[in-house]
This record gives sequence, structure tokens and C-alpha cells, in this order.
Amino acid sequence: MDVVLVGLPGSGKSVVGRRLAARYRAVFIDLDEVIERAAGRSVAEIFEAEGEAGFRARERAAVGTLGGPDAAASVVRVIATGGGTVVDPRNRWRLYRGRLPVWIDGRPEVLAQRLRRSVTVRPLVAGRDPVGAVRALSAERRRFYAAAHRVTGVAELRTVVDSVSRIIEEHGRHGMVFDGRLHGPGTRLLLAETPLGVVTIGEGNAGAGVASALRRLEARRAILVSEPGAWSAAGEELAAGLEARGWPVELVLLPQGEAAKQLAVIGDGASSLARLRVERGEPIVAIGGGALGDTAGFLAATYLRGIPVIHVPTTLVAQIDSSIGGKTAVDLPEGKNLVGSFHQPAAVVIDITFLRTLAERERRAALGEAVKMAALGDERLFDLLESDGDAIAEGAAATFDSGLVAELVERAAWAKVQIVSADEREAGDRIRLNLGHSLGHAYEAAAGFANLLHGEAVAYGLRAACRIGEAMGITPTDRASRVERLLDKLSLALRPLPYSIDTVLALLGADKKHSGGRLRWVLPTADGTEVRNDVPAELVAHVGAGLLEEELRS
Ligand SMILES: NC(=O)c1ccc[n+]([C@@H]2O[C@H](COP(=O)([O-])OP(=O)(O)OC[C@H]3O[C@@H](n4cnc5c(N)ncnc54)[C@H](O)[C@@H]3O)[C@@H](O)[C@H]2O)c1
Repeated sequence: MDVVLVGLPGSGKSVVGRRLAARYRAVFIDLDEVIERAAGRSVAEIFEAEGEAGFRARERAAVGTLGGPDAAASVVRVIATGGGTVVDPRNRWRLYRGRLPVWIDGRPEVLAQRLRRSVTVRPLVAGRDPVGAVRALSAERRRFYAAAHRVTGVAELRTVVDSVSRIIEEHGRHGMVFDGRLHGPGTRLLLAETPLGVVTIGEGNAGAGVASALRRLEARRAILVSEPGAWSAAGEELAAGLEARGWPVELVLLPQGEAAKQLAVIGDGASSLARLRVERGEPIVAIGGGALGDTAGFLAATYLRGIPVIHVPTTLVAQIDSSIGGKTAVDLPEGKNLVGSFHQPAAVVIDITFLRTLAERERRAALGEAVKMAALGDERLFDLLESDGDAIAEGAAATFDSGLVAELVERAAWAKVQIVSADEREAGDRIRLNLGHSLGHAYEAAAGFANLLHGEAVAYGLRAACRIGEAMGITPTDRASRVERLLDKLSLALRPLPYSIDTVLALLGADKKHSGGRLRWVLPTADGTEVRNDVPAELVAHVGAGLLEEELRS
């Protein structure tokens, strides 16, 4: 087994690691030393000469030299990481998967004091306000460290080493199951307490994640709400994992797909909960894609005037979008999502393993939303989609095994967490998430919400937003072509749509994003977005028509 120590600068990873390795007669590896040996200069000198980017590239290479995890039951290697090593999702994937990550935690004030006494120069905290610098790093990185097992590092060295030993022994007793299945702990890559619930992301982590959320809520049973497709792909195995952990399991099965989003289904679901004598405060666990999550979320929002819900999103749309943000709704014959409420989940447990069984079209369509997230200003997400998006859409095993899918999900999901946390009720900044959605929704509605998946429609909407933005001088030409080239590469929004421009414009007029009677457009800029309510109607008609079949354009 490899034990990986993570934590802020000054938390004592190297000292603890050395002592721990001696205790288990294991090899000790200090990643910073590996980097310094390879570079022939100190970390501080590398920062000076090559900047942080240069250092991080060397760090990534050093993580690569570790090879795969050691599968032996005893501790074979103890690896001390640098404070920022696990910020990079791919490093975290390599370091946490199949190894035992332990977070040595400590209060920023104590760590700053230690750093002041240390002879080693830490480039990122070497300013005049070390406490402030450590605090800022702590806020930025907590979610990455918190995914590991936590021990407090503010104690005698021996006590800290004993605490890590206890975690190692605990794991030895329960057996380390690292095959990504739901009965073992799986790999947790991110854990964050947010205003939108406790968000965890990982691989094979659903069983442990749901059990932990149920414990937090002091639940006495696991009431699972799912639908046939998600149940056979994910729910059944998750239920078995929960039963193996001693949880009594109840199941409420709703219809599959958009058929779930009906008021009648809410009535049936509520009756099922009443028959199970579900009490106020008892959580339900929603296992499925966006349709199931929207319905089960609304059920949780209204049953007994509101009970907690734990979301286990099983589609890419649900993992990067619908499970985050607390929007719940069902449809009416008059339109989609017309009856609903805001109801934040207690927890969102994202397990990327579920995405392996998803139909290619579902994965590819969801990438329309991922491109939108990249266009909001995540350059690394752009790069990732450009180089590997198509393989991810195809479901290539290598994209899962290399950590690419995990990185994609983390980047897109976390971007949504950040935007929505700052604006839960869509009063301000959250509108940015509507990039590509104005004409996107109109196309989706023109298709009767049947022939075009949501992400596919958003891809058309993104092309339109780029063209409108470019015509208005808001979107630089190279930005617009980068977005459109990426959509080409992902085979999204390629074919002209078979709807008339009159229908599309009428549906656009019914859009919810009006303010004072004018539609608010989110348009791409060089590295983000701008919101405008002065887009000329003729320009919208011209651009909107450009994505339709020729004879339907006027
Ligand atoms: N609340 C929000 O903020 C929000 C955001 C975006 C979309 N949505 C809503 O989400 C819905 C679309 O969600 P969706 O795209 O996830 O569709 P979906 O929930 O209908 O799932 C698509 C299909 O995939 C199947 N499936 C689910 N998990 C699977 C798995 N792991 N393997 C194989 N198949 C699996 C389902 O049975 C279904 O047939 C729409 O109703 C949309 O309005 C809501």
C-alpha cells in the first residue's frame, strides 16, 4: 500500500512522512526532493527561474514517475506531496486512486508561525502576511485535501504519526477495495461543504458517499427513488452496497426519462412515501439523470412541506449540471419546467463510474453544456475538450482510466457550484449559465422536446451566441471560431434544423429570461461573457435562421 500525505505548507508532511516510513520500514518519497533532484535546483530557484507554471509541469512529471499504486496489504511507500500538488485534478487522480491519501490538517495561524521559523523558502507564502496567505491557500484547496482521510497535524509528532497509523490499520481491517466498485470505499477526489449541499466527486465512491450522507442526516434507512434505466445501470448495485453496509433499503420507482416530470407522478411518489410512513427529516436518495433528479427533488421539496434529498446523479447532464443548484421542476402540457421550486440537496454524490454505461448520444449531448462551461472562462476545460472531448463522448475506456472524465466532471461541476453559490436564486451572476440557452431553448421547444436533446440544442444556441456576439463586436473572431471549431470536432450542432424561423422566434419570445420586456442575451467575450439586452431583433432573426434548413429560413 502507498500512503500519500497531503496538506498545506507547514503542516508537517515531510517530518511525519519520514517517521511513518521508519515505523513501517517503508520507502519514503518526498515529491519536492524528487523535483529538486531532477531539476538540479531548489523549489524556490525553480519558481524564480521558471515561474509557478514551470514548477507545476515538473511536479506533474514527478507524480508520473511514481508509477501505479503498490497493491501490497502492508505499507510499502510513504509519499509526501507538496502543498499544491493535489490542486491539479490529474495529479489527484494519480495520487488518490488505489492509494491511501491522508490530510494533515492544521490551523493557518499555527502553520504560518511554523513557516516563519522554517529554513525552507515556500514561494507561495513568502509574503509579508503569511497568515493571510496560508488562509487564502486553505480556502482554495480545502476541497482537495478534504477528500483524503483527515488527521490533525497540530500535536506532538508522535501523536500525529499515531493518528495516521490508526487510519492505516482501520483500512487494513476493512480491506482496501480499490476496484472502483460500490462495495468498497472507492476513490474520493473532491469533498466540499457548500451552500448547495455537501458535494463529493469520485470513482466508485457512491456507496460510501451515500452512507456517509445518510449518517450525517441521522437516517435510519435508505429510501431510494429511481427509475428503471438508472436503477439497472446504477441503483441496484448501489442498493446492494448499502445493504452490505447494514442499511435497510426501500425503493420507490418512478417512470423513466421525461415521463417522470409530471404532476401525476409527484402524486404517486408522495403516496408511496406516505405508505412507507416517511417522516419529516427523513431523507430520500434520488438516483438517476436530470429528469429523475428534477422530479425527486420536487417531491422532496413538497412532501411534508420539505424533506432532505441526497442526489446521486447518474448521467453526465446530471453530474455537471442538473444535480447542482437546487432547481426542481415538473412539466405541464403548456410547457417544460413550469411547476417547481428551489430545494437545495443535503448532499450530491457524484460517481463517474456510472457514466460508463451511458448511451453515446447522451454523453455527447452533455458535452454541449461542458463547452458552455469552458466558454465561461475555463481555458483548461477548453483544451481538454479539444484534445479528448470526442473520445470522452465515445465512452473510450482510456478516458475513464486516465482521469480525463473525472477532470471534465470536476471542472464543469465545480464551475456551476461557484456560480450558483454566489447567486442561488438567479438574481444576478447565475444568468451567465444561460449562455447558449436563449436560442437553444427555442430550438429545443421547436423540436417538441423530443428530437433534440437539451445539450444538443445548447450547442446550436452556442453557435448562435457566438455569431451574434461577433456581429456586435463583443465576441472576438478567434474566440467565436474556437468555440465553433470545438463544436465541429464534437459533432455537435452540425446539421441544419428542420424548423421554421417563425416558430423559433415565437418560442424565443416566450423565453423566461426577459427583463422589462427585453430578452437578456449572454454573449461570449475573449475570456468570459457579457449580458446584453440590446441585441437587434433583425440580427437574432438572421443568425437564428442561419442554423435552419434553407427553405425554412424566411
Ligand atoms: N434542474 C436543473 O438545473 C436542470 C439542468 C439541466 C437539465 N435539467 C433537466 O434534466 C433532464 C435531462 O436530464 P438527462 O439528460 O440526465 O436525462 P434523463 O434523466 O432522462 O436520462 C437519460 C436516459 O439515460 C438513462 N440513464 C440514466 N443513468 C444511466 C446510466 N448510468 N447508464 C445508462 N443509462 C442511464 C435514463 O434511464 C434515461 O433513459 C431534463 O428534464 C432537463 O429539463 C435540469
